[in-house]
Amino acid sequence: PLNAFIFDLDGVITDTAEYHFLAWQALAEDIGITFTREDNEELKGISRMESLEKILEIGGRTGDFSNEEKEALAAKKNDHYLTLIQKISPSDILPGMKEFIFTIKEKGLKLGLASASKNAFTVMEALGLKDEFDIIVDAKTVINGKPHPEVFLTAAKHLGVDPVTCIGVEDAVAGVEAIKGSNMFAVAIGPKEAFPKADMVYEKTEDVSFDEIVSKFQQS
Ligand code: BG6
Ligand code: MG
Repeated sequence: PLNAFIFDLDGVITDTAEYHFLAWQALAEDIGITFTREDNEELKGISRMESLEKILEIGGRTGDFSNEEKEALAAKKNDHYLTLIQKISPSDILPGMKEFIFTIKEKGLKLGLASASKNAFTVMEALGLKDEFDIIVDAKTVINGKPHPEVFLTAAKHLGVDPVTCIGVEDAVAGVEAIKGSNMFAVAIGPKEAFPKADMVYEKTEDVSFDEIVSKFQQS
């Protein structure tokens, strides 16, 4: 039986994935690294510090900064990100997602959030969705980041449901890996070719269909 949907936040419920990219790109430029949108795909779903490490790798600058300097760089990126998300409001929920979330609730299913971001509560509050979810698990509550399944498993545990009765929704390759590692059914948002491990892929949030997902889940 299906018990719950567990959502990623950035890039699934709202387009903060774009703001993360813009903030990292500005930071990279500051330290003389060219960081492209294509590079950014690999960073989706990845924690703040790990993202910084990857950017330093891309720029061939691994080892150029002390831990303290890296903390300062990550904090600078976050300050920029916080400025970018200041204007987020309920109108920034991606097309179709509000309806999708409310359909899930109407059907009596549980709703969880499994985010790699330490800013997840702030963003959910700004979107007016914080109180709609039964559980929000963010990067502050878990030890292992995606692609490790911990964040999805923790959400299922708090909801009191077996992971095999859950459907995870993600826009990141690392996120889909985390969902599959949790033994959940994975719905990916993005280009089909990017998600060979997902059970279903929708190119855009507005294409997501509750009935279609549930019927595929039941056949699986
Ligand atoms: C994830 C994003 O949700 O959160 C990543 O996909 C981001 O791009 C990560 O790096 C960490 O976010 P934050 O807000 O803790 O820096
Ligand atoms: Mg995401």
